[in-house]
Amino acid sequence: MIRSKNLSLLIVSFLLISCSDQQSPDNEKVESVPPSSIANLETIMTVGDIQRGSKLYIQCRACHSLKENEPHKIGPNLFKLIGSKAGIRDGYNYSDALSGSEIVWTVENLDLWLEKPYEILPGNKMVFSGMRKQEDRNDLIAFLYDQTSEK
Ligand code: HEC
Repeated sequence: MIRSKNLSLLIVSFLLISCSDQQSPDNEKVESVPPSSIANLETIMTVGDIQRGSKLYIQCRACHSLKENEPHKIGPNLFKLIGSKAGIRDGYNYSDALSGSEIVWTVENLDLWLEKPYEILPGNKMVFSGMRKQEDRNDLIAFLYDQTSEK
């Protein structure tokens, strides 16, 4: 279940996405909203400790790659993750739950996903029990944005 406080954010994100070019995504052109329109991104990049996040990423590394054109692992490559629609990476075989979801990876949704992946999207196939501490999630999200955004 997506908490209702996030619903308005989701809707805003969707409006932004539907205003942009609707081309079928491929590895190089993952559809995403502009960073400046993502609520809390600036905050997370201020409070999040990227260095610490890189150590927390060890928990994800076996299953995910981050850089452009790196192959998918057990989970999808996460290049241009923040701001992108969930479940759209070419060449990755998602669960129906994820590919059929309407989630956009805003900071808030990513935070919920990392805390309890099974709760935001029941039936997904990411085997990860969740990251309980807010501080850890902040640091990891800052690291993910630093590593997966287009420079
Ligand atoms: C055991 C392997 C595994 C681990 C560990 C893991 N993931 Fe995943 N992840 C997956 C799989 C598999 C999926 C696809 C889920 C589906 O299709 O339902 C996924 C999906 C995702 C997605 C959605 C991607 C998209 O294209 O919409 C994100 C974001 C994500 N993982 C982030 C993380 C982060 C960050 C960590 C570390 C805290 C992590 N994952 C740990 C396997 C893993």
